[in-house]
Amino acid sequence: MNANPNNSVCILGHNITYSRSPLIHNHWIAEYGVDSKYGICDLPAEKLSDFLSTIRNGKSAGCNVTTPYKETVIEHLDVVDDVASAIGSVNTIYRRDGLLRGTSTDGAGYIGHLEAMHPGWQLKGSKVLILGAGGAARSIAAALVQRGCSAIYIANRTLEKARDIAGLHPNTIIPVAWDDLQSTTGAVDLLVNTTSLGMVGRQPLLCPLETTRSDCIVSDIVYAPLETELLARARGLGRPVLDGLGMLLHQAVPGFQLWFGIQPAVTQELRTLVEQDLLSHG
Ligand code: ATR
Repeated sequence: MNANPNNSVCILGHNITYSRSPLIHNHWIAEYGVDSKYGICDLPAEKLSDFLSTIRNGKSAGCNVTTPYKETVIEHLDVVDDVASAIGSVNTIYRRDGLLRGTSTDGAGYIGHLEAMHPGWQLKGSKVLILGAGGAARSIAAALVQRGCSAIYIANRTLEKARDIAGLHPNTIIPVAWDDLQSTTGAVDLLVNTTSLGMVGRQPLLCPLETTRSDCIVSDIVYAPLETELLARARGLGRPVLDGLGMLLHQAVPGFQLWFGIQPAVTQELRTLVEQDLLSHG
């Protein structure tokens, strides 16, 4: 089948080294028989405006956005939803009623994975510790606030960045100094690492887990390696764990739904496909 070019989608960025989005979306495109193709659009900044016009004019269904455009693309859009404007970053663009719209799906992806693995788990009223204060931490914190978490502690080596995220919702988000991690781990129901520590080639994350409650879910958004040292330690202590690959897959779901009106399933088959890709590309 030749894909309809007016229905094409892609990942938009510049100097894109590698992206797993084509693999994920082309799998769903084939599975659901959608007349489309997901490609890579690696463009310099001066071409951004022309490219976005193709979506506005109906010559493309939309795109994902990666570095360096997640923030700067906002000025080119007609509508940016509450989540994306709260965090100042967009990773998914689509068209509705002739308008170019942007959203951010990272936080929804994290929660989607959590709910898929722990159905019925109560986010409302729960206490969460986020390690790190980069873009991913900001997205996850915003989504957790929306879902009614009662306290979100953010621990970061550079405390100022944690304070900055706390500005999103000062009543709920509490900055914590990296050296005070030990006193916070025992107070939470969910812990999430958003730092780059534990990634292949990086130092491990030295977060004390012995003090966590026995039912505290320990999660990592790092997915290379699939089982980080943090998750292995948590598993060793009998804690429920949540890996980073699940968030990567679930964050792609809203985009596919917005472009094609189909809510795709995150299946074991898709997971295995991406796992194999991780093993071959690192
Ligand atoms: P992203 O936007 O993808 O979340 P990022 O902005 O590079 O990624 O953030 C990486 C996170 O890892 C930051 O919170 C960073 O802490 P700083 O804000 O202090 O830089 C954290 N990080 C990286 N290396 C670290 C280390 N050796 N110890 C503690 N935190 C570290």
